[in-house]
Amino acid sequence: MANKPEKFIDENGLRLDGRAVDEIRPMTIEIGVLSRADGSCYLEWGKNKILAAVYGPRELHPRRMQKPDEAIVRYRYNMAAFSVEDRARPGPSRRSIEISKVSRDAFAPIIMTKYYPSAVIDIFAEVLQADAGTRTAAINAASIALADAGIPMKGLISACAVGKVDGQLVLDLSKDEDNYGNADLPIAMTQDGEISLLQMDGNLTKEEFKKALEMASEGCRQILEIQKEALKRKFASHEEVVESLAEVADEIIEDVQKEIELIDEDFEVSELEDEDVIEITIAKTDTSEPVDKAQEEDFTEFTEDESSNVDGPEGYEADKAGERHEQ
Ligand code: CDP
Repeated sequence: MANKPEKFIDENGLRLDGRAVDEIRPMTIEIGVLSRADGSCYLEWGKNKILAAVYGPRELHPRRMQKPDEAIVRYRYNMAAFSVEDRARPGPSRRSIEISKVSRDAFAPIIMTKYYPSAVIDIFAEVLQADAGTRTAAINAASIALADAGIPMKGLISACAVGKVDGQLVLDLSKDEDNYGNADLPIAMTQDGEISLLQMDGNLTKEEFKKALEMASEGCRQILEIQKEALKRKFASHEEVVESLAEVADEIIEDVQKEIELIDEDFEVSELEDEDVIEITIAKTDTSEPVDKAQEEDFTEFTEDESSNVDGPEGYEADKAGERHEQ
């Protein structure tokens, strides 16, 4: 582990990584990265790398665990063994069980579980590389994966931490700030500003706590914009494809309608002229094996004499006319 830095904030008010005290680390989001998951997201936040996957809603087994009036939500936060400097011991730990529980609860206000009685929605958050703030990064990724899975939600959840170093509050702690700072306050928020996760490690005065909440809320608002942008990029491009396909389909329908009008006007079977028949015959010989003379004659005879047997309104009308004539 790196030694404790002498100062976390320089004389210009900048932190060790050059950020202002109220600045979050750069975040990038990729959606739909796993083909077997119903929804997925790969998120990088500073040096954190998180993969989130959502499966469901699907029937919950064993059945005794089902809730008859709503879906249950399961959340598993896991740190890959290679995600930290000292290898993380594989399997659940007290820390990962606690983070999984509070993270699942963070989604309680938004997931519309009543739509899926007896079902389960599974959320997996895999930390591939950890660099402070992994629980909040995982929640941000899970929120997008849920949206990608099409789970009905009242909005997104955004999460961010505030800490205290050198006696000052700082937004979105870096690794050193997290390890050696005086406080760490991760929060998660709905789009409407409702806090759905709040934890605190360390000490803050009442005033600092209030200020920290404001800073974290502002951080969540910024993250919400990044999340929305990522979703727009994914689903707007999808909409564009659908729109252009719809345009092509409209053009095809228009062309077909014109063709039908032409056929109605020019090729009414009951009104076929000899010339039309010859044209059709030529087209037929052009595109297939040479037609022998007998076949050609059959075809001409058929079109001239047996037009009343043609399926469709013209043939039907001709049949009717024939019947009336016989009577
Ligand atoms: O990651 P988060 O801030 O949500 O949780 P934390 O328990 O405050 O951990 C802070 C950081 O310590 C993590 O992001 C990791 O970088 C590191 N850590 C570690 O190196 N080994 C662990 N077993 C747990 C955490």
